[in-house]
Amino acid sequence: MASPQISPSILSADFARLADDVALIADAADWVHVDVMDNHFVPNLTLGLPVVQALLKHSALPLDCHLMIEDPDRWAPQYAEAGAGSVTIHAEASKAPIRTLRTIRAAGARAGLGINPATPVDPYEDLLGEIDMLLLMTVEPGFGGQSFLDVVLPKVRRARALIGERPVWLQVDGGVSAETIERCAEAGADVFVAGSAVYGADDPAEAVRRLRGQAERAAG
Ligand code: DX5
Ligand code: ZN
Repeated sequence: MASPQISPSILSADFARLADDVALIADAADWVHVDVMDNHFVPNLTLGLPVVQALLKHSALPLDCHLMIEDPDRWAPQYAEAGAGSVTIHAEASKAPIRTLRTIRAAGARAGLGINPATPVDPYEDLLGEIDMLLLMTVEPGFGGQSFLDVVLPKVRRARALIGERPVWLQVDGGVSAETIERCAEAGADVFVAGSAVYGADDPAEAVRRLRGQAERAAG
């Protein structure tokens, strides 16, 4: 298991000041989590490739692009080619995940596979060799600020066991906060997305440092 990493979600940042809000966490976080939503895979619309391309020029941290879109096979390679450090596609949306994951890696990015709260992880065991990160949603995707779904924790444990010695990071996304991050770390997660818990805080960088400290102690 890798040491804990924090990936603040800019879904809870000020969309009119994205570069400034990313700079706020640049010394404290490991990644910048970018939630791409198309109003089809999820009932919300956020941003797309042009904004990611612009943000890449202004971010000292690598971008962790989470594609909650209906046609990731068409779009994901372009995020990798643009320079995203990590590109995650959803298992529920991809029609050719192996091809798309390989294309992401070939473009030089880390390849992630995301699964929703009610999607079982076991059918994807054979794909673990194709990915660098498994993202387990701990809320129904679409919005920041939702309550953490404890019901997903057994799946986090099962996913950690399935990953075994493979160099695959296990990311949790949704409702991760000072109240819930320890449970996630104890269950085996090692990459933590936090939107409202970081950008809703008075001092986002300090919030990131505290979350990291909690995760490190819980992972023990
Ligand atoms: C939800 C997004 C999350 C979201 C997390 O669909 O994938 O990344 O921004 O926000 P919080 O941490 O507020 O639940
Ligand atoms: Zn996300």
